[in-house]
Amino acid sequence: MMRLDIVSIFPEYFTPLDVSLIGKARERGTLDVRLHQLRDWTRDVHKTVDDTPYGGGPGMVMKPEVWGEAIDDVIGDGTPRMIVPTPSGRPFTQELAQELAREPWLLFCCGRYEGIDSRVMTEYGSRLRVDEVSIGDYVLAGGEVAVLVMVEAIGRLLPGVLGNACSAVDDSFAPGAMRNLLEGPVYTKPPVWRGHEVPAVLLSGHHGKVARWRRDQALRRTIANRPELAAGLDPATLDKHDRALLGELSFRVGPEDVAN
Ligand code: ADE
Repeated sequence: MMRLDIVSIFPEYFTPLDVSLIGKARERGTLDVRLHQLRDWTRDVHKTVDDTPYGGGPGMVMKPEVWGEAIDDVIGDGTPRMIVPTPSGRPFTQELAQELAREPWLLFCCGRYEGIDSRVMTEYGSRLRVDEVSIGDYVLAGGEVAVLVMVEAIGRLLPGVLGNACSAVDDSFAPGAMRNLLEGPVYTKPPVWRGHEVPAVLLSGHHGKVARWRRDQALRRTIANRPELAAGLDPATLDKHDRALLGELSFRVGPEDVAN
């Protein structure tokens, strides 16, 4: 059982957590998600959560006092791992998702505006493990959607959440054989749709040829869509066939040549 606390001024953002895999995990008791309205911890009639930034500049900063009261109440004597979504954070990766999936208790603190007064992270950083985390190099209006992304990525890794235990290990970014390779295209019935045929090899029943074709497709797609990922492939993980394909595509892998 994993406990997740989410503090936000828009707890309505999290209704998607009632459905699908995560919703089922909550019903079964694998996941205990608790949503909190940050404004419940304000003490003024206007329920103020933000103020102008010291040093000037655009936008508003979330006030430390209200965050402190909220977090103190939510955690009590406990020590959850605290995650603060921000475009200035460390990257959220499959590796971090796997690490977080092993924690018993996560606390997500969603900032809006220009972010949360940094002393909040300093204060709790002395008591909890605190990570500021970014889900990608773009700027959202607030951390809520980033937390939805992280909760879904973490939730599907929890034991018993995915129907098929293998689905989670074969992912493009999961550690293992396919590391640094994107997954190739997939097909199902019918064998011809609007004149488009399923690649014949997939209907051949020849498992060796299917595996080889899938690996070729994975390599091609990685080179096309994520050349930086393809360039980082370890040459030791490439067989003769892979090297021939890379040669045809004039693509070089391995460590960058450095001048001097
Ligand atoms: N808040 C705003 N943009 C974000 C991002 N890219 N990742 C995490 N939190 C955010």
